[in-house]
Amino acid sequence: MKLFIDTANVADIREAAELGAVGGATTNPTLIAREGRRFEDVIAEISEIVEGPVFAEVVSSDHEGMVSEAEKLAAIRENVVIKIPMCSEGLKAVKILAGRNIKTNMTLVFSPAQALLAALAGASYVSPFLGRLDDIGSEGIGLIRDIVAVFSHMEKRPEIIAASIRSPMHVIDAAKAGCDIATVPPKVIWQMISHPLTDSGIAKFMKDWDAHTARQ
Ligand code: E4P
Repeated sequence: MKLFIDTANVADIREAAELGAVGGATTNPTLIAREGRRFEDVIAEISEIVEGPVFAEVVSSDHEGMVSEAEKLAAIRENVVIKIPMCSEGLKAVKILAGRNIKTNMTLVFSPAQALLAALAGASYVSPFLGRLDDIGSEGIGLIRDIVAVFSHMEKRPEIIAASIRSPMHVIDAAKAGCDIATVPPKVIWQMISHPLTDSGIAKFMKDWDAHTARQ
């Protein structure tokens, strides 16, 4: 199980990279817009920090536009992977890009049927969104389990990225379900570090050590 970071904030990516926690970085148009910087500049900077895949999403609504955007983004650095939204035009774009050896991640996947189509079109990754399903009262983790089951019968399959992660429990549930990757917002990575018993344990060790050295 690999962890990717789900943000376009360069400071947070640097911080998480120092922890050894970042195998890749995912962005989307909302995350890029939040930073208020030029898209290509942010992707170029992230792709220098992160050795693994860095995901940049296209915003065209037709496959020709998606392919043309994808080619420009993929030229930024060899670790840039193109996120394509799940739809007919998106599937056509994935198929064309696979033929040109440009890696894609089919995003906004909410059903096993969509994941299967993405796999058949030649996507390198699929991104089922757990949190957004939970938000509408559906069980997000059930979707991951279903996709893992469907892909288990395929010879060549995309890696599954659990996306729209809201909590450390989501990450662990995705890992237990057999997911390849979870893309995790910085806040959830920081939450994964902490445990109240670790904090109190460190405080007690320090206190006992100080008392010991004071007696020497
Ligand atoms: C994944 O690649 C997406 O950027 C992300 O996980 C979306 O999550 P959200 O539902 O918190 O917006």
